[in-house]
Amino acid sequence: MFFDIYVKRNLDEFYNYREELNRLLKALKYHKIIVVKGLRRVGKTSLMSVAYHMIENPKVFLDARDFKDPFKLMDRAFMEIYSQIDPTKKIFEVVNVDIGPFTLKLNKSDVSLKEIDKKLSKKAVIFIDEIQELEGLDKLIAFAYDHTKNIVFVISGSEIGVLDKLFLPDKPLFGRLAEVITLNPLSFEKSLNFLRLGFAQEGKEYSETELREVVKNLDGLVGWLTYYGYLRRQYSHKKSLEILKRNAKLLIESELAKFLEKRRGEKIRYLLIIKALKEPKTWSEIKDYLEFKLKKKISNARIHNYIEKLLEFGFIVKDEEKYKLADPLLSLL
Ligand SMILES: Nc1ncnc2c1ncn2[C@@H]1O[C@H](COP(=O)(O)OP(=O)(O)OP(=O)(O)O)[C@@H](O)[C@H]1O
Ligand SMILES: [Mg+2]
Repeated sequence: MFFDIYVKRNLDEFYNYREELNRLLKALKYHKIIVVKGLRRVGKTSLMSVAYHMIENPKVFLDARDFKDPFKLMDRAFMEIYSQIDPTKKIFEVVNVDIGPFTLKLNKSDVSLKEIDKKLSKKAVIFIDEIQELEGLDKLIAFAYDHTKNIVFVISGSEIGVLDKLFLPDKPLFGRLAEVITLNPLSFEKSLNFLRLGFAQEGKEYSETELREVVKNLDGLVGWLTYYGYLRRQYSHKKSLEILKRNAKLLIESELAKFLEKRRGEKIRYLLIIKALKEPKTWSEIKDYLEFKLKKKISNARIHNYIEKLLEFGFIVKDEEKYKLADPLLSLL
């Protein structure tokens, strides 16, 4: 069912994005790193999860938030893969993976990354979600990239710019070839169709006026549309939108708070830019707005920095010459 709110696993509950899915499946054959990019709630984890459940390779799906340090995550990933190519090795039994300079020594029988790589007759696929949460993971991925042939990483995260930054010249992954798959929000028509089909799956049909109002409010982020459909099972149209907005506001506030935590001195400025972008604006309109509100001049370099950071963390997007909110619900703040 489209309106179940867990991460999707099966094709029949996964709407649209077939081209992106096929690209991902194909890239597994030819690439060693695949990056799944997109705004919050656009469906990145679901895309990875559907691909994960479709493939028959040795595979593992991990969320970086579940680990305290990158070594533990890698250790776990390779243990899982190893146990799949050699079923006599049960997970947690003996194996500890030696990943080059980052050796972990807890074990009875070491096995090196190269040995695992050699044993693989098919590509092994390591999916890692929310990669930005573990500092140092990129270094380990770079090491594995350089020393193996048959291991593929599919990585993703909610902060769009963080993924781009992984490949900058001063970073461990610099120079490694990666296939980037970007998920874009659904168009207005596709969003409407998602709602129509989702309700049809449940034997319901609602007025087009209502459905249009939903898409006008939520745009093409499949996560919000799914949540609306889920609430609509129980509540009226009006009430569903109301609950959704109330909860969305809390969630977005906490995401923004996390971003602002490290930028305390500039909190008001960031909030003003977000407020300004309730209506799309050009770069100089943003500058004018900020200077007007703060009643002082702000250097171009600073404005540039604020805008770059908001883009990087996926709070705003650039649409032709204008900047706008990445998620219309940010205007609730
Ligand atoms: N293609 C799809 N078809 C139907 N439902 C989907 C699809 N993609 C995502 N969903 C639903 O949307 C919600 C958000 O999906 P998901 O967690 O995969 O997005 P995400 O981009 O990883 O979000 P985040 O940025 O918060 O990590 C979930 O409830 C999921 O069930
Ligand atoms: Mg996700």
